[in-house]
Amino acid sequence: MQKNILVLYYTQTGQLEDIVKNIAQPFEDKKDEYNVTYYSIKLKEDFPFPWPGDVFFNTFPESYLQIPSEILPPPEEVLNKKFDLIIFGYQVWYLTPSIPIISFLKSGYAEDILRDTPVVTVSGTRNMWMLSQEKLKVYLKNLNAKLVGNIALVDRHDNYTSVLTILRWLTTGKKEKSGILPAAGISDEEIAGAGKYGMIIKKHFDNNHYDNLQPELVKNGAVEIRPFLVRVEKVGNKIFTVWSNLIIKKKEKRPLLIKFFKVYLMAAIWIISPIVLVFHILLAPVLRSKRLKQKKYLQGINLK
Ligand SMILES: Cc1cc2nc3c(=O)[nH]c(=O)nc-3n(C[C@H](O)[C@H](O)[C@H](O)COP(=O)(O)O)c2cc1C
Repeated sequence: MQKNILVLYYTQTGQLEDIVKNIAQPFEDKKDEYNVTYYSIKLKEDFPFPWPGDVFFNTFPESYLQIPSEILPPPEEVLNKKFDLIIFGYQVWYLTPSIPIISFLKSGYAEDILRDTPVVTVSGTRNMWMLSQEKLKVYLKNLNAKLVGNIALVDRHDNYTSVLTILRWLTTGKKEKSGILPAAGISDEEIAGAGKYGMIIKKHFDNNHYDNLQPELVKNGAVEIRPFLVRVEKVGNKIFTVWSNLIIKKKEKRPLLIKFFKVYLMAAIWIISPIVLVFHILLAPVLRSKRLKQKKYLQGINLK
């Protein structure tokens, strides 16, 4: 009997769609054994791409506070089937799973689709996905899904280069290399090579045994942890909590506060984070074993 695989995702640029499709390819290659269904989450009112700058920053409070929008119902073929495996593609907006993903998870459709089903999460982000994955782990647990693997693809350029290229890409649509800046996003080679993770998933799926899936994915480069970025994310979450609540509460001052937030965010990236980096390096000898433990945990799929 054919096994049913669901590939669910949202994408604005097409990057995540390319990634999840490549991961699903080994299953597609054996159409007699596997039936692959694709479900691209659709919002009733989608976000624009490329993003007008003010809309990009105005999305921050709802993104960070995980306030959902309305999604269109998933197609019948998704609602009426029981899946044997789900490949769950998501991206991060403001250190949090994106609004379309949160909207799906909070929609009421998610539990029926995810319940008691093995899930492999696949993120395609700039580079700060680690604490979003922790937030997603909680949703999956509450929805009774079984997280069995995680793949986190990122832009491997340094943190500053990728800020510049992603802002250019998201606000103008221009992804290609230009001037001294490289192309934005996850490299073409890595996207094209994502099929190797699909092969690994398929092997464990066929054996119906997932205990060694995540260690094997990690061994093959599926999850890189940069300890400095974890530190930035921890600080970022604290500060975002304050900003997002302030902006939501002071409704009448929202346009002005969003402008301040934008200035603050740029200062945080270009001024505060290099200072944090200096302390991060200075503290390396003292915190080595703690950071190693943290890295091992974040590469895994368990929830603390
Ligand atoms: C509003 C917004 C906020 C984002 N915030 C983050 C972030 O906090 N961390 C990160 O690694 N990437 C961030 N990204 C990049 C996305 O995770 C994603 O890689 C990129 O938008 C590609 O789009 P797609 O997956 O919809 O095609 C952000 C993107 C948008 C549009």
